[in-house]
Amino acid sequence: RMRLAVLTSGGDSAGMNAAVRAVVKAGIVKGWETYVVREGYEGLVRGNSVKISQHSPTKSVTTVPKSVQHNALVHNLRFGDGELLRSGEGDAAERSGGKNLKGRYIIRVGWDDVRGWMGEGGTLIGTARSAAFRTPEGRLTAAHNLIKEGIDALCVCGGDGSLTGADVFRAEWPSLVDQLRTKGEITEAQATAYAHLKIVGLVGSIDNDMCMTDMTIGAPTALQRICEAIDNINSTASSHSRAFVVEVMGRHCGWLALVAGVSAGADFIFIPERPPLGDPWEDEMCDAIGLHRKEGKRKTIVIVAEGAHDAALKPIKAEYIKTVLTERLGLDTRVTQLGHVQRGGRPCAWDRILPTLQGVEAIKALMESTPETPSYMIGINQNKVIRVSLQEAVKMTKAVTTAIEARDWDKAMSLRDPEFAE
Ligand code: F6P
Repeated sequence: RMRLAVLTSGGDSAGMNAAVRAVVKAGIVKGWETYVVREGYEGLVRGNSVKISQHSPTKSVTTVPKSVQHNALVHNLRFGDGELLRSGEGDAAERSGGKNLKGRYIIRVGWDDVRGWMGEGGTLIGTARSAAFRTPEGRLTAAHNLIKEGIDALCVCGGDGSLTGADVFRAEWPSLVDQLRTKGEITEAQATAYAHLKIVGLVGSIDNDMCMTDMTIGAPTALQRICEAIDNINSTASSHSRAFVVEVMGRHCGWLALVAGVSAGADFIFIPERPPLGDPWEDEMCDAIGLHRKEGKRKTIVIVAEGAHDAALKPIKAEYIKTVLTERLGLDTRVTQLGHVQRGGRPCAWDRILPTLQGVEAIKALMESTPETPSYMIGINQNKVIRVSLQEAVKMTKAVTTAIEARDWDKAMSLRDPEFAE
């Protein structure tokens, strides 16, 4: 019987819970044992240091609202590692040794444990940016923990950094198994049984920064938050005839800024992949905004991606744009940094549909995985859920950064969106 573990890694994004739910449920349908790894790769490195028998017995049964009584794992994760409601047979805590999850990061889950997760924001199983997993020793421990739990398939839901981690882990796996065998940490039989780790990636990130897929899980919700925020800002901007510089997230990717700019009818947008090429860019921006004002516009919206820079790769900051608009155009200007408001909250419909369809596809990809097939990343292309090589997607995404560093803007844009080149 196959044992599958799913983890979420990197920055949380709306839809990650829906992804975990889909993977767990589709895995169970296929007859697998399903596990979640708490706290991303960090949990994989920490493993289950506390044995089930070491758990202390429940002192009392905690009273929790009816709505969460059926969902022991959520209850435990939300209400801390202390008392856990005994919600009857089959809940995650019961199967993982009872009363608390302290010292246990790889948790067996069942159908009921992920009930109601579709519409929850963030990631209920926790996430982290793990420094330990970036080291070879950390990955060796992670491999050992997986083998100790008998897990032979792993689904990682995260952004480009997390999937790069998955790709490294996949590539190193045979050598990790060999090292564990040589050190006597695992038996010959285990080394043979776990020679192949089935691994699949789901792209969860608000940044939409992964190549070879049109959309990442969480990006549509973040975009929606930004649009709503700009709608709100527009009230003041129009009333006072002000300019607003809105900084949005996205790390090295300009997708959120670009499409939010289109959705909001922004006057000027700064993205890392294609900086303004006017010399100086301040003239280009002021000419465009000056024209809009001359045509009678009462408000000005400038959107700046947090990773924006000029053509010489010097960062362009919101405060500096404000100074330019104030001094050169005489505009009463404010800066709004949206921050984590744009990352959180309940997923929009698309961030429930996408992870659900992709979660099911991830299970299919794992079922068909052999040592000869590549590890897959599940993407979406022209409205079709697709599988692409994880390794290729990671490589292409790295190439965007290289193109930006080389100031090859056409290349950076066409790697992000192949149709841009046409
Ligand atoms: O990758 C998602 C993201 O929200 C980026 O857009 C942003 O740069 C970063 O994470 C913020 O990270 P943190 O939550 O660790 O500050």
